[in-house]
Amino acid sequence: MIPIKSPAEIERMREACRIAATVLEALKAHAKEGVTTYEVDQIARNLMFEHGAASACYNYQVGSRRFPSHTCISVNEEVVHGIASMKRTLRSGDIVALDVVVVYQGYIGDNACTVRIGAVSPEADRLLKVTEEALYEGIRYALPGKRVGDISQAIQRYVESRGFSVVRDFVGHGVGRSMHEEPQIPNFVDRPIKRTAELKPGMTLAIEPMVNLGRADTLVLADGWTVVTRDKKPSAHFEHTVLITPGEPEILTRLAPQPAAAR
Ligand code: MF3
Ligand code: CO
Repeated sequence: MIPIKSPAEIERMREACRIAATVLEALKAHAKEGVTTYEVDQIARNLMFEHGAASACYNYQVGSRRFPSHTCISVNEEVVHGIASMKRTLRSGDIVALDVVVVYQGYIGDNACTVRIGAVSPEADRLLKVTEEALYEGIRYALPGKRVGDISQAIQRYVESRGFSVVRDFVGHGVGRSMHEEPQIPNFVDRPIKRTAELKPGMTLAIEPMVNLGRADTLVLADGWTVVTRDKKPSAHFEHTVLITPGEPEILTRLAPQPAAAR
């Protein structure tokens, strides 16, 4: 069963997602050469607290393991679920995926993006561009009457036609009162599109292409969380939480442009 959010729930999703997006903006501004991923994570922790929100990642439990940082920060060949660390200093040429998931008044906002530290290689630069564009390609199909598989297909075609590969071991997801709700949203076609769920107004979906420069295969490091590419080539990740409406999709984790007077 895919949850359909009521108008009151949608309002709370908008608020949670606005906070998630605000925190991600701040992290983008702070992720610079010489800064540790721990420092970036602490900025997120403090900013979530100031907004009356909390990290949905911190202490997130899978089996007997609990996630130890407030955000996922995944550098270069790390795909997702990287753990912030005082020992990891960002260096020029790094690409850094920042994944922010907040819970606010019982509802979750989930978004991610990948940033460049200093000057990055032309291939890494293109990987980031293509991954972000693939996210927006997928969002174009977040329409009532379309299906989950339409989103998957759009992302996969966009990425693979440009010579990159989509990660198959992790997928996007419904999001709401829980971080992971139905449906799963693969970034690849795994069955006839007709057999995937039909999109309906009131669904809230985290669409999140994870794209590798080399091969799609991943493995999890001994810390139990950090997902890396098997070939050690770089990976990028972009994510928005999106509301299906009767019309165009509403990107809940996109901040409204700030009027100049308010800056
Ligand atoms: N955006 C990630 C996801 O959708 C966040 C999970 S982080 C974890 O799975 F730490 F909670 F695992
Ligand atoms: Co997610």
